[in-house]
Amino acid sequence: MQASEVLIRNVRPQDLDDCCAVESYGFSPEEMASRETIQLRIETFPQGFFVAEVDGRVIGMANGACTNKDDISDEELKQLIGHDPDGKNMVIFALAVLPEFQKQGIAKRLIQQFVEGAKRNKKEKVFLMCKPHLIAYYEGMGFLHMGLSRSTHGGAQWHEMCLPLKD
Ligand SMILES: CC(C)(COP(=O)(O)OP(=O)(O)OC[C@H]1O[C@@H](n2cnc3c(N)ncnc32)[C@H](O)[C@@H]1OP(=O)(O)O)[C@@H](O)C(=O)NCCC(=O)NCCS
Repeated sequence: MQASEVLIRNVRPQDLDDCCAVESYGFSPEEMASRETIQLRIETFPQGFFVAEVDGRVIGMANGACTNKDDISDEELKQLIGHDPDGKNMVIFALAVLPEFQKQGIAKRLIQQFVEGAKRNKKEKVFLMCKPHLIAYYEGMGFLHMGLSRSTHGGAQWHEMCLPLKD
């Protein structure tokens, strides 16, 4: 489906159902965040939670947290344990767009908004973990491939990517 008008904005509490639907389309049951976790992210750190809206419906999202660590493999941060809004780095937990809206640059716009926010707040780096087939996609947006992660989240193998924001 062609997304004629896509609005990228910060999440709102009423987006919870749509965000859960996007998460469930994007990730396996083992990998996906629970409704409670998504609600916690929305309530705790909406500044780091962006959604793509089409015709009043959320069809994509990028969400994350801040940390002072450079190690992003720990599971606790995904529950925002250790999240510090003043932390020097940001981590993106989930990036997903509903299948019928993919390949139109919507995920790229979500990442751009996330990164612009990180720059505005003077963060040093943006980290994320991805599957091997998406390494080149993130490299295309300036991320550096850091290698295989210690994380085995959802029983999968993950690669760590890092976007340095300062020289
Ligand atoms: C990964 C994901 C978020 C990408 O979403 P998307 O909105 O399709 O991403 P984009 O449109 O920015 O880019 C996807 C591809 O479409 C291409 N594209 C972008 N705009 C396009 C357009 N107008 N026409 C054709 N192709 C286009 C991009 O070049 C890119 O190609 P590449 O994969 O060869 O680099 C989406 O596939 C998804 O939700 N997957 C499941 C969840 C997941 O794996 N998330 C990542 C976790 S790390």
